[in-house]
Amino acid sequence: MSSLEVTIGNLALRNPTMLASGVMDETAGSLLRVARAGAGAVVTKSIGSEPRKGYPGPTLVELDDGYINAMGLPNPGIEAFAAEMREARSCLVPVIGSIFASSPKEFSFLASKMQDYGAAAIELNLSCPHAKGYGMEIGVDPETVFTVVREVKSACSIPVFAKLTPNTHRLLEVAKAVEAAGGDAIVAINTVKALAISAEIRRPILSNKGGGLSGPAIKPIGLRCVYDLHADVNIPIVGVGGVENWRDAVEYIMAGASAVQVGSGVGRAGLEVFESICTGMQAFMEREGFNSVSHMVGVAHE
Ligand code: SIN
Repeated sequence: MSSLEVTIGNLALRNPTMLASGVMDETAGSLLRVARAGAGAVVTKSIGSEPRKGYPGPTLVELDDGYINAMGLPNPGIEAFAAEMREARSCLVPVIGSIFASSPKEFSFLASKMQDYGAAAIELNLSCPHAKGYGMEIGVDPETVFTVVREVKSACSIPVFAKLTPNTHRLLEVAKAVEAAGGDAIVAINTVKALAISAEIRRPILSNKGGGLSGPAIKPIGLRCVYDLHADVNIPIVGVGGVENWRDAVEYIMAGASAVQVGSGVGRAGLEVFESICTGMQAFMEREGFNSVSHMVGVAHE
């Protein structure tokens, strides 16, 4: 077994990097490119029951240390996504199907569709910070999250991950609800609520006004969430937020993550980011005497 191999629930990954939902993940072609570039797994764009155009532009603002986006969950709908999943399955790494919905029943329907399409695991989007009726509107209430995870678990047999929002004081309660309902892993964090204003236009830049901040600007927030979660829950955590080099990834793993996702880092550092994280992490582990990633998980707590 290579020292970079990890397992999340019963999902085996060749290395602890995954493509985060929302970046290069709406077509089989782009998912295949990311897998070829070295990611250990790829997560699809969040898919809903019906096709959605998303918000009109502008939907993205680039900052020095990240991005603010409000796309509005654009996606082709679960029926049309079958064709992309069919082709993406040939990519030799697990394809994790991200889904968003407004009720436990709708989540279960989408999860069983993704399972039928060959997804290796489900990622529940309980955390989009700006879509009416979806994402964090559902994901900040521990009872609702418990019901969603329990129903999805009984509708499918593949691992179920819950992607949580940092935009709440109830993160630990929500995470405990995921664990109590049988969830297989927590993915933390999604973007942080944010706003960009143009001084010349004298208005918010994004058409939706508010959006979600990602990239290096949120790494300390993500690390804090993962650190606190590791102390309180006993299911694996996947760290997300500002990972764009091996050191970022090692910091998340030492905080308690079993793997990391890279989203904005793909835009900022290119597709080489996956290979360079793995090469740098391997060299660090050799220097520091870690013979597996799992030996590094949570060491910052010792
Ligand atoms: C979007 O599609 O607007 C972003 C999705 C998310 O933040 O989860």
